[in-house]
Amino acid sequence: MKALCCFLFLYILSSPSLNEASVPAPTRRHLGPNKDTGVLTDFGFNFDIEINARLIFPSLRLKKAYFAFQEWKKFITSDPQNMLKNWDGADVCSYTGVFCENAPDGSNVMTVAAIDLNHGDIAGQLIPHLGLLTDLSVFHMNSNRFGGPIPSSFSSLTTLYEFDISNNGFDGPFPDVVFDMPNLKYLDLRYNNFEGEIPPQLFDKDLDAIFLNNNRFNSSIPENIGNSNASVIVLANNELKGCIPHSIGQMARLDEIILANNQLKGCLPKELGNLENITVLDLSNNNLMGSIPEGFGNLNCIEMIDIGHNQFTGTVVDAVCTLPKLMNFTFADNFFDVLEEKCDKPVKPELVLDCRQNCLPGKPDQKDETTCKRRKPQKRIPVL
Ligand SMILES: *[C@@H]1O[C@H](CO)[C@@H](O)[C@H](O)[C@H]1NC(C)=O
Ligand SMILES: *[C@@H]1O[C@H](CO)[C@@H](O)[C@H](O)[C@H]1NC(C)=O
Ligand SMILES: *[C@@H]1O[C@H](CO)[C@@H](O)[C@H](O)[C@H]1NC(C)=O
Ligand SMILES: *[C@@H]1O[C@H](CO)[C@@H](O)[C@H](O)[C@H]1NC(C)=O
Repeated sequence: MKALCCFLFLYILSSPSLNEASVPAPTRRHLGPNKDTGVLTDFGFNFDIEINARLIFPSLRLKKAYFAFQEWKKFITSDPQNMLKNWDGADVCSYTGVFCENAPDGSNVMTVAAIDLNHGDIAGQLIPHLGLLTDLSVFHMNSNRFGGPIPSSFSSLTTLYEFDISNNGFDGPFPDVVFDMPNLKYLDLRYNNFEGEIPPQLFDKDLDAIFLNNNRFNSSIPENIGNSNASVIVLANNELKGCIPHSIGQMARLDEIILANNQLKGCLPKELGNLENITVLDLSNNNLMGSIPEGFGNLNCIEMIDIGHNQFTGTVVDAVCTLPKLMNFTFADNFFDVLEEKCDKPVKPELVLDCRQNCLPGKPDQKDETTCKRRKPQKRIPVL
């Protein structure tokens, strides 16, 4: 996350100062939106006709932006904080929430680099015309009331780096158009009503942060999750099914993964122990079972483990409770029946352990004996 903030900062700092660029003559082509794909070709809209001829724009790109914003306003149905009240006139760079920079292609013209209407409480739709903002690097729309489809013309946003439409009213299947944004690194779709499958392409795209939590995704986690270079993956609060893929162990850059509150089942893949740089692992509130894999003792960077509210059995081992960076280890509401010594009495006083509602003899607030007996794993016949 730090890296993302840093990128933006550098982007803004490194832009050369504005030179008044000559405005190219407007193109008169009138192609109309491409009917097959819905993708706007460069001048797919004949915006010249729509724009008051007396308005003067410092660049053709800003003229296009003006057209896109004016069209967008027609699809805004509520703006209780009056965020868009100054969205009039040719100076689009002074509009609330609109940020201009010199164009990233070095052509020395001003262009719209970012839109940030976070917490606007604005209701409406995203329209195809927004695909005219081809120099956008940031699209932040969190905590509004937008809904409807994400227009396929968003595939024209080839420099988009951060796409955040979290906490809105979007629904339907995963918006595949994000796969057409070649520079996207930060994808935040959380707190919407997207449903159905998490597409495997998601993990073949070079993203740094993936937030899909609090939607209605109900597939399994794609087997290729291990291909992802993401440092943060949050899939919590969906209806994900199936097992945690073994490939997860290949995610060398993974820092945080949160899969809490789904319907995951099966045992933990032993490959989780390969995540030597992971700091946060939250698998709570699923139907996971079996024992803690031995490899957990290798998680030398881990600070927080939550495997609470599952069906785990067996021993909580010292190898985990003595991990050097561990601060918070929650394994409440499982069926663990043995606590090794350093889990019982942690060496580090600042380590928080939550062992409630297990089957641990002598510990307070445990499950009752009959519940524990029912879950006791059958003795396996030793293989010789
Ligand atoms: C997932 O959700 C979709 C759409 O809501 C539904 O059609 C489908 O049957 C669900 N699939 C599973 C595996 O639950
Ligand atoms: C991950 O990063 C490597 C090295 O930068 C790159 O070659 C690879 O294509 C990336 N993979 C994905 C799925 O982004
Ligand atoms: C963990 O991080 C270190 C340095 O931060 C890096 O050298 C190492 O390659 C990382 N481990 C993996 C598995 O990527
Ligand atoms: C430890 O983690 C649990 C579960 O994620 C959380 O509820 C609790 O507040 C954390 N405790 C501390 C002291 O950080």
